[in-house]
Amino acid sequence: MIGQIKIEKTNSPKTKPDQSNLGFGNYFTDHMFIMDYTEGKGWHDPRIVPYAPLEMDPATMVLHYGQAIFEGLKAYRAKDGRILLFRPHKNMERVNISNDRLCIPPIDVDFCIEALKELINIEKDWIPTEDGTSLYIRPFIISTDPFLGVRPSKTYKYIVILSPVGAYYPEGINPVKIYVESNYVRAVKGGIGYAKTPGNYASSLKAQMEAKKKGYTQVLWLDGVEKKYIEEVGTMNVFFKINGEVITPALEGSILAGITRDSTMELLKSWGVKVTERKITIQEIYDAHANGTLDEAFGTGTAAVISPIGELNWNDNKITINEGKIGELSSKIYTTITNIQNGDLEDTLGWTT
Ligand code: COI
Repeated sequence: MIGQIKIEKTNSPKTKPDQSNLGFGNYFTDHMFIMDYTEGKGWHDPRIVPYAPLEMDPATMVLHYGQAIFEGLKAYRAKDGRILLFRPHKNMERVNISNDRLCIPPIDVDFCIEALKELINIEKDWIPTEDGTSLYIRPFIISTDPFLGVRPSKTYKYIVILSPVGAYYPEGINPVKIYVESNYVRAVKGGIGYAKTPGNYASSLKAQMEAKKKGYTQVLWLDGVEKKYIEEVGTMNVFFKINGEVITPALEGSILAGITRDSTMELLKSWGVKVTERKITIQEIYDAHANGTLDEAFGTGTAAVISPIGELNWNDNKITINEGKIGELSSKIYTTITNIQNGDLEDTLGWTT
């Protein structure tokens, strides 16, 4: 039994930011949710407290060995006043997949969803309502033993913070230029690529920075062994529309099982579009471009939802996709998902809570 959630409200609420200029991850709400884990006792002391810095021993394990996981999901305010969460069970179930890989004890999915609802209810005035905005939810777990030996921690904190956000990329839904990364790799089979854990993002920075210097927004990751098969784009899953068929790399251990990826596939199937999960090589994309069958390419993720790819550069061979414009299908998926998320479109697939 985790117990009753204690609530301590802030005495000094912050001024809310201008909704037209939020960017991504710049602002945080007045409260956060925390619960602790202690070996032998389980998860305990769930509480909602004023948003504040964490005090930590400099030896805290997460600071040294990165035993941690995180999630990302969004809350929306519908026009009729309802607060909508998009597929929160999927995120909380993924917490336990990541936890298992990182040797972190599992959370109680239903309890964490109830706790999330309680936190969001307290912070409901922070949910932005302008087009393209939402309240980004960041649950995360850190290992907290003050100890320098390498082993799983015996104590953890599960924390949820909230951030009103606009578009993830300054480009918004406009196509981005992507550098095909042939040197650095994101993950390998047997590694931690399928877990949502900070190390994957730390290891991606160098490639991202080098691509930026060359004028590209992000990189297209190839497999870590043959540098031949496509894996992800930046922090997102990737899709290609070739000859009317939509193809995305199969999840084989090194790719994160994105919730927007899953939603995109379900939507396409419901529209009668052929969707295939399989290995796909970068050569195949260039061949399809050469013979005129590469219609669209786009990334999917919680933060940006859909991010069309306008250009690829693979070993200095540049191709422009769909004349660098937003594709019809990318645009339809973006509009449909965001309208289900914000309640403008009837949720016939039962995705919102
Ligand atoms: C996503 O939601 O697409 C991400 O994984 C990016 C996030 C780490 C900000």
